[in-house]
Amino acid sequence: MLEIKNIKKSFGGVKAIKGSDFIIEKNKVTALIGPNGAGKTTLFDIIAGLTRPDEGHIIFEEKDITKKEPHKIANLGISRTFQQVRLFKNLTILDHLQMVEDNKDMGLLKNIFTNKKRSDKKYEQVLENFGIKRTLDTYISDLSYGQRKLLQIAMTLEKSHKLLMLDEPVAGVNKVIQSDIENLLLKLKEENETILLIDHDMEFVRKLADHVIALDAGVVICEGTPDKVLKNKKVLEAYLGE
Ligand SMILES: Nc1ncnc2c1ncn2[C@@H]1O[C@H](COP(=O)(O)OP(=O)(O)OP(=O)(O)O)[C@@H](O)[C@H]1O
Ligand SMILES: [Mg+2]
Repeated sequence: MLEIKNIKKSFGGVKAIKGSDFIIEKNKVTALIGPNGAGKTTLFDIIAGLTRPDEGHIIFEEKDITKKEPHKIANLGISRTFQQVRLFKNLTILDHLQMVEDNKDMGLLKNIFTNKKRSDKKYEQVLENFGIKRTLDTYISDLSYGQRKLLQIAMTLEKSHKLLMLDEPVAGVNKVIQSDIENLLLKLKEENETILLIDHDMEFVRKLADHVIALDAGVVICEGTPDKVLKNKKVLEAYLGE
C-alpha cells in the first residue's frame, strides 16, 4: 500500500535519515521502532508531506506522493496523529471534531464564527466510544493530557482514511488511558485497519504488530515478525543499548 524508496534527509549537518527503504502492507499493523532520534517522526512527516526529503520517493497506492501537499495527501487517505499533541487550546472538543469533517470544504472557520446549530448526537457518540468523559463544549485547555491524546486519536479515526499513522499514541498517558488506547488499537487490528505505529513499549508492539521495522538513522536494521526483530542482536544493541 505504501512504499518508502531510498528516502534521505539531513537537517543541517545531522543525517537524520541515511536511506530508508520499506513497504507497508494493507490490512496489517506495522510498528516502527528505534532509539530516540532514529528518524521515526521525521519519516512520518515526510510521508504526510510536512517535511520534504532530500532524496527518494513515497509511493501510496501506486502513486508518487513525494511532492504533494499535506492536505492532498490527507485527502488521499493517510490520517495521522502527532507525537506532540496539536490541538487549539481555546476551541472546544466539538470544534475539533467538526474540523475533521469541514477540512475538505474549509467550512471550519465558517462554522466556528457563525456558530450554527449543529447536530451533536454523533459527536457525543464519539466521546463515548473513546471514553472521553467530558461534554462537547469543554475547552481543550480544560482537558488532561491523556484526554487530549484520546481526542487526537478520535479525530484521526473520524477522518475517512485508508492508512492510519500513530506516533507514540500512549506516550505520557496514565495507565488507565494507556490500556483504553491499547484496547482500541487491538480492536482496530481485528477490523483489519492498516496501521503504521511508532511505539517504545515492546510488550505492546509484540501484542499488536504483524510486522516490525527497526530503524537506526532511518536505515532499516532488521524487519520481520515481532519475535524475530525484538531478539535481533543489532536491534538490541541499537535500541536497548545492550
Ligand atoms: N526540524 C528539525 N530540525 C533539525 N533537526 C531535526 C528536525 N527534526 C528532526 N531533527 C533531528 O533528526 C533526528 C531524527 O529525529 P526524529 O524526531 O525523527 O526521531 P524519532 O525517531 O522520532 O525520535 P523519538 O523516539 O525521540 O521521537 C534527530 O537527530 C533530530 O534531532
Ligand atoms: Mg519521534
